[in-house]
Amino acid sequence: DASVPRLDPKAPIVLIGHRGASGYRPEHTLASYELAIEQGADFIEPDLVLTKDKVFVARHENDITGTSDVATHPEFATRKTTKVIDGETHTGWFTEDFTLAELKTLRAKERLPSLRPDNAKFDGQFTIPTLDEVIALAKRRTKELHRTIGIYPETKHPSYFASIGLPMDDQLVAQLKTAGWSKPTDPVFIQSFEVNNLKHIHTLTGIRLIQLMGSAGAPADNAAPSYAAMTTPDGLKAIARYAYGIGPGLDMIQNGDAPPSTLVRDAHAAGLRLHPWTFRAENVFLIPSFKTGTTPATHGRLSDEIQLYLRLGIDGFFTDFPDIGAAARNAA
Ligand code: G3P
Ligand code: CA
Repeated sequence: DASVPRLDPKAPIVLIGHRGASGYRPEHTLASYELAIEQGADFIEPDLVLTKDKVFVARHENDITGTSDVATHPEFATRKTTKVIDGETHTGWFTEDFTLAELKTLRAKERLPSLRPDNAKFDGQFTIPTLDEVIALAKRRTKELHRTIGIYPETKHPSYFASIGLPMDDQLVAQLKTAGWSKPTDPVFIQSFEVNNLKHIHTLTGIRLIQLMGSAGAPADNAAPSYAAMTTPDGLKAIARYAYGIGPGLDMIQNGDAPPSTLVRDAHAAGLRLHPWTFRAENVFLIPSFKTGTTPATHGRLSDEIQLYLRLGIDGFFTDFPDIGAAARNAA
C-alpha cells in the first residue's frame, strides 16, 4: 500500500460540511447545516462576519448581495454602498450596516443558481443564522444522535472588522467559552486565512486552530509575504507554534497531473494536520482524468477524488457534499 499515513493514524478522518451541505441547500443556513449532519458530517462550518450590533452571523462574506434577498427590500435601498475590503472593491449591502433584527428580515438565496438550480428552489425560505443558533443546532443534534457534532467557525476579514470597531477574536473566544468550549478536546476548530488573529486567539483559548492558506496570494493582514513562504519547512514550524493544523487549497497538495507536492510530508514533519478545501462535485476536479461532466454524473468521481487525496495522507477535509465525503471516507 503506497498510502501516506495521517499524522494521527488512529484518529478519525475529520469530515467538515463546508457551509453546511452547500451542494444541496443554500449555504450557511440552518437547513444546510442540518442536512450536513444527517449526511454524516462531524463538523459544520460557519464562516463568520459581524452585524452593526456586534452579533456573529454565518455568511461567507460581509457583502450579502449575492446570498440574500436584500436587493428586493426597498426599505434598505439606501444602504447600498461601495467599500474596499482587503484591497478589493465591493458594491452592495454589508452585514456591518445592519442590526441583527434587520438582517433577520432577509431570506437566504443560492449563491450559484445556474450551477445548483435545485438549491435555488429553496430561495426565500431560510433566514441568516447567528453563531448562537449554529452552536445550539450542533448541541441539539449531538444529544439526539448520540454522536458528537462540532463546529468549525472561520473568522472572515478579522482585520477589516477590527478597523471598523468590530474586533472578532475576544468575542468569539468568549462566546465559545459560554458554550462550554475552551480546550483542545472540545469539538471545535477555529480557522482563518489571517495569521495575527489566530496567534492572538491562541493566547486566549486552548481550542484547536487551523491556519488557512491558498496556492497564491498572502494573508490579508500582511503577516507573511506569501502563503508560499508559510509552507516552507521553516514556515510550517512557525505555524505549529500556534496552530493544530493547516487548511490548504487542494491544489497545494496535488495539482493536475503533476506529482503530489511535499506539503503533506512537510506539514506532518512540523506536527501539523491537513484539512484541505474544498471537494465539490461540479466544477473543480483537479485531476484531469476526473473531469467528466456535470452533476450528478460526477458524484462517483468525487468519491474517487476524495479517496485519492486520502491516500495522500490528508487528516480531514471540507466538502459541499458530506454524503459523498462520508462514502469516500468509508471506502478509503
Ligand atoms: O474554510 C475553508 C474554506 O472554506 C476556505 O474557503 O472561501 O470557502 O471560506 P472559503
Ligand atoms: Ca470557510
